[in-house]
Amino acid sequence: MKFSHEAITQAAIDSFDGATNPRLKLIMQSLVKHLHAFAQETQLTEDEWMAGIQFLTATGHQCDDVRQEFILLSDTLGLSMLLVAMHDGTQQGATEATVLGPFHTHDAPAIQNGADITNGAPGEPLHVTGRVVTTDGKPLANALVDVWQADSEGLYDVQRGELKSQRRARGLIHTDSHGKFSFWTVLPEAYPVPTDGPVGQMLLNTGRHPWRPAHIHFMVKSDGYQPLVTHIFREGDRYLDSDVVFGVRPSLVGKFQAHEIGKAADGRDMKKPYWSLDYEFALQKK
Ligand SMILES: [Fe+2]
Repeated sequence: MKFSHEAITQAAIDSFDGATNPRLKLIMQSLVKHLHAFAQETQLTEDEWMAGIQFLTATGHQCDDVRQEFILLSDTLGLSMLLVAMHDGTQQGATEATVLGPFHTHDAPAIQNGADITNGAPGEPLHVTGRVVTTDGKPLANALVDVWQADSEGLYDVQRGELKSQRRARGLIHTDSHGKFSFWTVLPEAYPVPTDGPVGQMLLNTGRHPWRPAHIHFMVKSDGYQPLVTHIFREGDRYLDSDVVFGVRPSLVGKFQAHEIGKAADGRDMKKPYWSLDYEFALQKK
């Protein structure tokens, strides 16, 4: 007797009935239901599914300690940003979250408030000042600000093989008793996500551009508050409306101000033009 399509789908769903973890059962049964519906809707051929399996296999092979092609896939399909938006319980006044992205590391150097994280990264100097506060504007002292960014060539340190484990344009800073922090870095530029792997091939084959508007990543943590993972984007960037990972929120576009040669706000004598950015991060209670 020939199985009907519906009977095959139902049998696969029912096969998880005995799962003792109710959440796992729900997720697996829903995954099967939607995967089967996807195959039916597209009338997916066996050759096409084999191409899909090869694509996912290549995506896995592209991953290593510093390259996470599956995060890039999730980001470029909009799934990462959808999850951020679904679980963003941002109260009135809290800074909005956006995607983590694939270039965060757990070995950023601790730096003194006001120090320079550039460490040889190319780009025009940028002085970043900020404050970490509660949603009602009270300063959060000793909050941890984890910052990372691409340089003027659009590259993160981990993408430069010659740097090995050297870290630059990233650092860990604690806010002072007024919730304030500052550091020197380089002006970020727009960059294409890595296009030399399967995700890049997917973008090329579908006529999508690979660009992200210029931004600096921030992860801000303070005891008793929800950790905030976000970016500050550069005002005026040509890709603000078409970010390849859908991460832009208007509230996260920062004012990057150009300055001529002279004394910067922290007294540093600047012998070439530089930029400044000031932004306040508001955290919501856990
Ligand atoms: Fe980034």
